[in-house]
Amino acid sequence: MPLYRRFLGGVPEYLARHYWWAYLWSPGSWFFDHGWIINAILFGQYARLAEAASALLQAGKKARVLQLTAVYGSLTPRLLETLPQGMVLADVADQQLERVRGKCPEGCLRLCRMNAECLGYADNAFDRVLVFFLFHELPMEARSRVRGEIARILQPGGRLVVAEYAELPRHHWMFRFSLLRWLLCRMEPFLAGFWNEDHDREMERAMARYGKRLERLASRHFFGGFYRVVCYRLRRA
Ligand SMILES: C[S@@+](CC[C@H](N)C(=O)[O-])C[C@H]1O[C@@H](n2cnc3c(N)ncnc32)[C@H](O)[C@@H]1O
Repeated sequence: MPLYRRFLGGVPEYLARHYWWAYLWSPGSWFFDHGWIINAILFGQYARLAEAASALLQAGKKARVLQLTAVYGSLTPRLLETLPQGMVLADVADQQLERVRGKCPEGCLRLCRMNAECLGYADNAFDRVLVFFLFHELPMEARSRVRGEIARILQPGGRLVVAEYAELPRHHWMFRFSLLRWLLCRMEPFLAGFWNEDHDREMERAMARYGKRLERLASRHFFGGFYRVVCYRLRRA
């Protein structure tokens, strides 16, 4: 039996198959949840990306905030410091939810075990949604379903903040160095698909299905254009 199958309980097949070592295996989660490790994985950009994402969220005291999936490092506890009303965090892996619980003060974070492709929230249930490096870890069909769910649960007038790999970085040294590119694409098997997709257009398509549209409020690039943080406001179409 392939090793990854031991981690299949209740999580999508792609997550167990490709990322068991990072998110579902206790020693792996323990290892990656060190600030310096996650910062090294993001080539020293973690703090800047997390700071930009939190700043762009601009959630007022009454905003209903969803962090869609757990993130290693201090992003969630830091974000909570700015949200007296607390927030919701949904992730499909128990292991990850437990890890976030251990990092955050009690009572301000509602943790929900859910698949982001099929969220158990009402339409327009949130005013803010933060997605930090999730899309590139999903196969195309899952990405499309997650975009659809975000479009459904986000209230018109609300904000979506996405931190991710930027558009195909043809001229970036990381991309041009074929061994590095090969290594990265081995570790991140859906990244090439994500790079070759027009994320904004796909997001727009998803919004249109719910009679909504996106207005891009800000877009910041990091690490010479390798990563980006984009903030959108949702409108009625
Ligand atoms: C946010 S992404 C990557 C974050 C980034 N590598 C980091 O930790 O800084 C990883 C999280 O997404 C979760 N995840 C992956 N696919 C999911 C899905 N379909 N539904 C909910 N959570 C999912 C994993 O369990 C994991 O906790």
